[in-house]
Amino acid sequence: MPYTAANNRYETMIYNRVGRSGLKLPAISLGLWHNFGGIDRYENGKAMVRRAFDLGITHFDLANNYGPPPGSAEETFGAILKNDMGAYRNEMIISTKAGYWMWEGPYGEWGSRKYMLASLDQSLKRMNLDYVDIFYSHRPDPNTPLEETMGALDHAVRQGKALYVGISNYSAEQTAEAARILKQLGTPCLIHQPSYSILNRWIEDGLQDVLDEQGIGSIVFSPLAGGMLTNRYLNGVPSDSRAGGPSVFLKSDHITESKLGGIRALHELAEARGQSLAQMALAWVLRGGRVTTALIGASRVEQIDDNVAALNNLSFSDEELARIDEIAASAN
Ligand SMILES: NC(=O)c1ccc[n+]([C@@H]2O[C@H](COP(=O)([O-])OP(=O)(O)OC[C@H]3O[C@@H](n4cnc5c(N)ncnc54)[C@H](OP(=O)(O)O)[C@@H]3O)[C@@H](O)[C@H]2O)c1
Repeated sequence: MPYTAANNRYETMIYNRVGRSGLKLPAISLGLWHNFGGIDRYENGKAMVRRAFDLGITHFDLANNYGPPPGSAEETFGAILKNDMGAYRNEMIISTKAGYWMWEGPYGEWGSRKYMLASLDQSLKRMNLDYVDIFYSHRPDPNTPLEETMGALDHAVRQGKALYVGISNYSAEQTAEAARILKQLGTPCLIHQPSYSILNRWIEDGLQDVLDEQGIGSIVFSPLAGGMLTNRYLNGVPSDSRAGGPSVFLKSDHITESKLGGIRALHELAEARGQSLAQMALAWVLRGGRVTTALIGASRVEQIDDNVAALNNLSFSDEELARIDEIAASAN
């Protein structure tokens, strides 16, 4: 069946302004890091992107190396656009990144101008796009001058191959410096993409202050701690879960007894709020309005439905927040 987007797709989603820019992003965005690779079922990936868009998720986050194999998530997304959803390109914010290992030799990773711009050209080709909405430096490169990496981002915008630029995994200090350089170049830093969740709070220690001062938005990745902050692992490690598969980022031995105790306690608290644990974890990163959008992953359509319903209850009492802090401190 040819795809026609749901008529009511903009009715319930919340759209937040990205820092001090003119752009808005949905409070929940979908990342294609896992489950959209060449090894995964195309029909499932397509169904997830369709459902997300029907629920008002306008932002799809990619990177050159997502797969496996590296590059294949961009190919999957390109095929979905070509076969199915291309008519909606102007209603979508599509991002990609360069920084991690992508190809052999000295020009296939990190932050040189050579690598960044060649990688963006490859990404555009894989996705059948003329431009991406956001192009990121995926990680800081200790051996390349920041001026060079930021200069490559600025150049991508001047070439018309990206509308905005962002950085990911940069510390508070590196972010302040990157923002300064980008401002000087005339291409302000739109957004930072750091990890953040109830179990991982490093951005509260300086980075968020820099982002607020500079008017930079934030899109926080792994808000569900890769699936740990959901009902996925309450009763063991299912074979069709991330920790049950080959992922090196979440292994079954990461889900320790102490973590599991915390997850179960958080699950109880979420139930008392009338939410799933995933919904409470997403509401938590969005609380207070400092985060622009929570960047989720998903392996099936129902998870996207569950996660978007988090927006029905984003408020917390002081007691609930204190209890979450207490559980998180004991679960690490
Ligand atoms: N910039 C960076 O360096 C960086 C690094 C990592 C990720 N990212 C971005 O962030 C995105 C999200 O990362 P992530 O996948 O780690 O995020 P996440 O949202 O913390 O974890 C997603 C996983 O949680 C499980 N899940 C999601 N919703 C659920 C629900 N309602 N109920 C039960 N389980 C649920 C699924 O696991 P199962 O697969 O087990 O079902 C899903 O694959 C990536 O796709 C990527 O775009 C960026």
